[in-house]
Amino acid sequence: MPAWYFLPLPIYALKVHRVSIGHPKLVTEVAAEILRTGPITFARFMELALYHPRFGYYMRQTEGASEERIGWSGDYYTSADVHPVLAQALARQIRQVDDLLGRPDPFTVVEMGAGKGLLARDFLAACAAGTDSFYHRLRYVLIERSPAMRACQQRHLAPWLDSPKTVSWVNELEELPTGSVTGVVFSNELVDAFPVHRIRIEQGEPKEVFVEYRDGRFEERLQVLSTLDLSESLRRLASLGVILPEGYTTEINLHALAWMKDVARALGRGFVITIDYGHTAQDLYGPDRPRGTLLCYYSQMASESPYSRVGLQDMTAHVDFTSLAITGEEGGLHVTGFTNQMSFLMGLGVERMLESLEPGSSEFQSVIQLLRPEGMGRTFKILIQHKGITEPQLDGLRFKPFFGSALTLSESKV
Ligand SMILES: C[S@@+](CC[C@H](N)C(=O)[O-])C[C@H]1O[C@@H](n2cnc3c(N)ncnc32)[C@H](O)[C@@H]1O
Repeated sequence: MPAWYFLPLPIYALKVHRVSIGHPKLVTEVAAEILRTGPITFARFMELALYHPRFGYYMRQTEGASEERIGWSGDYYTSADVHPVLAQALARQIRQVDDLLGRPDPFTVVEMGAGKGLLARDFLAACAAGTDSFYHRLRYVLIERSPAMRACQQRHLAPWLDSPKTVSWVNELEELPTGSVTGVVFSNELVDAFPVHRIRIEQGEPKEVFVEYRDGRFEERLQVLSTLDLSESLRRLASLGVILPEGYTTEINLHALAWMKDVARALGRGFVITIDYGHTAQDLYGPDRPRGTLLCYYSQMASESPYSRVGLQDMTAHVDFTSLAITGEEGGLHVTGFTNQMSFLMGLGVERMLESLEPGSSEFQSVIQLLRPEGMGRTFKILIQHKGITEPQLDGLRFKPFFGSALTLSESKV
């Protein structure tokens, strides 16, 4: 045994590293609501943690630090931080959409939940480099819930602030009149940031996770489902062959379904392109994920603890693309295809771009990071839906991953 084993421990070694319960003012607000109303659903808890108007994770103004939530020095990064190639591929895809729609004027791109605005910036730069009329007909509309993120978008989109015809903001999707969008509704990692309900199967019955506040801590308790919409979602899953076993805990994203309905309403003619972490319902609710997919991100580290660092960490849950597709179909949106980021980028010619880069250069490595099949290339899925156009063929869907037809819901592709 080494001699140092017997030395007294220095005092700093005994200090217990306590993880904060969260932003003090937010914790006070959430606790006060629970004391007032009784236990709240997990969805309400997540709504407050991320989007409380003053102290929520995304909503708080923190002098220039809004950028630090997303990015290398923040809590997590997205494809937009890695390399502009995704934005460039989208620009290529959307130009093809423009041709399919007969080059309308205006051609509108609505981006929802644009975060720092990097994808928007790189997309607009790629379009501005074109020599045809597309850029002049393009209207880029951003919808962002967080004032802090919106301010950040305005910084990154500064070159376009003098052209309100090209780039503008609206507060909510509901502000867009029915059928008013001819073009594309696009999002990257928006749906996984919507508040989710959590359910657990107990004694053969689905129960819902509620959050209470006791002895200075947030704790879970199971109660009956808070809304019939959850029972309806479970019925739909059962009709797809998804039966959750005893003890299974998972998330249901009702917000995503309401959002999809509203997207379908606002789109007159064109496409919806949704990029996110996610799976088909059968995969998401399969035996591999008995505890669900809820994860929190703080300083580039993932954890399963939503009740610490409340308001100081991001919270996400993977997306059920089958339920999104079915809801879209009910609103007149047909599935064009379902793919992953790797196949999408390959279909849009990323290999040609890689050929122009020095192998081993940091730029080359960044593009590879977006393609890597055991990483971002396969984790990120892309659902494309269309309305008002017959059997469109898109380059981004040329390469079909094995699950490519998993969301084909109907024979009709109109
Ligand atoms: C995970 S971040 C993704 C950021 C960005 N798209 C990217 O790829 O870097 C989610 C963004 O969606 C925004 N958001 C969440 N719910 C929203 C809603 N209902 N309407 C508009 N924006 C929303 C958040 O404020 C945040 O900026």
